[in-house]
Amino acid sequence: MQKFQSIKGFLFDLDGVITDTSIYHEMAWHQLADQLNIPWQAAFAEQLKGISREASLAVILDSTGKHVDYSEADKVAMATAKNDNYLKLLQQLTPDSIAPGIEAFLVELKQAGYAIGLASASKNAPIVLERLGLSDYFEARLDPATLKNGKPAPEIFERCAALLGLQPTECIGVEDAQSGIEAINAAGAISVGIGSKKVLTKAQICFEQTQDLTLANIRNAFH
Ligand code: G6P
Ligand code: MG
Repeated sequence: MQKFQSIKGFLFDLDGVITDTSIYHEMAWHQLADQLNIPWQAAFAEQLKGISREASLAVILDSTGKHVDYSEADKVAMATAKNDNYLKLLQQLTPDSIAPGIEAFLVELKQAGYAIGLASASKNAPIVLERLGLSDYFEARLDPATLKNGKPAPEIFERCAALLGLQPTECIGVEDAQSGIEAINAAGAISVGIGSKKVLTKAQICFEQTQDLTLANIRNAFH
């Protein structure tokens, strides 16, 4: 692991880190699965975190074991239906929906002079940050529509670091998804997981709760 002193930037995932929208993604997919008469599986909750809308739809359709050849138009309609469900749920978001301790951590990072980037696979990220009132903290946001390979590929973290003018090895990535932790590790950045250590087994540093995200706690966790 590189030294804490070499870190110059932080690359944040959004859903499940900055706010608990991972629950809304899950609810919106569950609604779609019900509409399609596809049985919901408990394992989807973790599997769908971090991966794109299209990849998520593929996981749900593949789970039936029936290899139905849906047309592109059908898949677009399904993904759009899920997103419509999700956008309705997002109407509940307010600055009170910011995960505990996150805004204080962003302020701490700004004051200490760290660069801050957003590495979210969500095309809805601008709406979510706007509703939370956090848009101005992020000096770089990677547009997920431009990604060739989503998480667990390292591309999103590599390119987000580059937008900040940094090497991935000069950055810490913060993630709640297994796919995201793998992407951070593959990019050569330091991975900080938010959630259970039993789930985020590959995280170099892991905190159960967002309020544990402080520079002091991260510095102490370096070895
Ligand atoms: C994040 C979430 C995923 C979601 C993806 C795409 O990575 O963790 O659950 O599928 O973004 O989100 P979008 O808002 O573009 O459908
Ligand atoms: Mg996430």
